[in-house]
Amino acid sequence: MSNKIKVLTIFGTRPEAIKMAPLVKEIEKNSDSLESIVCVTAQHRQILDQVLELFNIKPDFDLDIMKDNQNLWSLTSEVLLKTKEVIEKVKPDIVLVHGDTTTSMAAALSAFYAKVPVGHVEAGLRTFDKYYPFPEEINRVFADSVCTYHFAPTEKSCENLKKSQIPDEHIYKTGNTVIDALLYTVENVKADLNDIGLKDNLKTILLTSHRRENFGEPIRNICKAVLELVEKNKDIQVVYPVHPNPNVQKPVYELLDGVNRIHLIKPLEYAQFCALMKKSHIILTDSGGVQEEAPSLGKPVLVLRDTTERPEAVEFGTVKLVGTDKDKIVSTVQLLLDEKSEYKRMSEAVNPYGDGLASKRIVDVLMNISKK
Ligand code: UD1
Ligand code: UDP
Repeated sequence: MSNKIKVLTIFGTRPEAIKMAPLVKEIEKNSDSLESIVCVTAQHRQILDQVLELFNIKPDFDLDIMKDNQNLWSLTSEVLLKTKEVIEKVKPDIVLVHGDTTTSMAAALSAFYAKVPVGHVEAGLRTFDKYYPFPEEINRVFADSVCTYHFAPTEKSCENLKKSQIPDEHIYKTGNTVIDALLYTVENVKADLNDIGLKDNLKTILLTSHRRENFGEPIRNICKAVLELVEKNKDIQVVYPVHPNPNVQKPVYELLDGVNRIHLIKPLEYAQFCALMKKSHIILTDSGGVQEEAPSLGKPVLVLRDTTERPEAVEFGTVKLVGTDKDKIVSTVQLLLDEKSEYKRMSEAVNPYGDGLASKRIVDVLMNISKK
């Protein structure tokens, strides 16, 4: 029997893949002591595959579960049942999951049922409101409660875990692996944005929105705010890589397709998206990951939500919560466009989420866990 510690990493969506990729690479680098086995649930398909290709990760297991307009019940049961088979076959010493998706929650439960210790990467994030974001807040609380090793990105996330009675010795402050992914990509991968058709003489506003609680009226309000902004400001252009979820695609294309200076585009590969963040003047988003990446690029972020589990960048001043009220979005963007001092204040580069070494810190912990 091999003496290596068998690490089974399970993920399924684009953000999990981006944030787990540097860790998988770091585990592979330490192949003397660790055996890396990767299982993707493929809760996402196309936008997961983009990331696997970029980081050259070839999964050992691909559960291929995505269905068009899938629901939480079938997704949860598919992940639970199919990961059971993988865990029984691999017999890992530890399972790693990431963050707060249905894949993370159900895979953590699956490993817990098999009595395999679980490590939670990006542990301890909280809004303390079970419906915002939905279902992510409960997914991460749940994952934290069944996990043994908690890899928390910041001091605040460590404090949240302590408040949930997680023993100190199981909490590791590591930074967020998203910064490892961002720094690697910006430094090593060339990306060109020529196909989008952006004009150099216009200021670029980057928009992303996909959260379940923004489906319906909120996403329509966001689109109407953007329409008003391009009408009022002839020197801006908006670019929106539209998430493939049909609940996003439908209203967005209905309201914004074909409008002058609004570019609706397919989801971008990660390297291109990083280049687009760098090129942008202002970012409007309800994404979690973008709230962590944009501050380290020195870009003001207006968050299209009422709460955030990422308060650090709000405290530094580069991230502001604006919610989904049309007039509030318009007035806040307008202020940033008009007031140089306000823009300067929000565009200072800060990096509360990591230094690019989070994966190394996690691997140091993995090297010291005991084999079964
Ligand atoms: C999921 C996560 C959310 C995360 C987001 C990141 C849950 C419950 N939600 O939300 O926490 O912030 O991913 O993007 O885990 N689709 C495609 N191709 C793809 C991906 C999605 O066609 O590559 C479409 C499919 O119709 C799919 C739908 O989008 O059924 C929804 O995907 P799903 O993973 O259920 O929800 P997301 O909104 O993507
Ligand atoms: N992203 C990307 N291409 C895009 C839009 C986003 O690669 O067209 C990246 C982004 O840089 C971040 C991650 O995807 O790292 C965020 O994913 P998403 O917004 O889907 O999920 P969340 O972070 O909200 O869970």
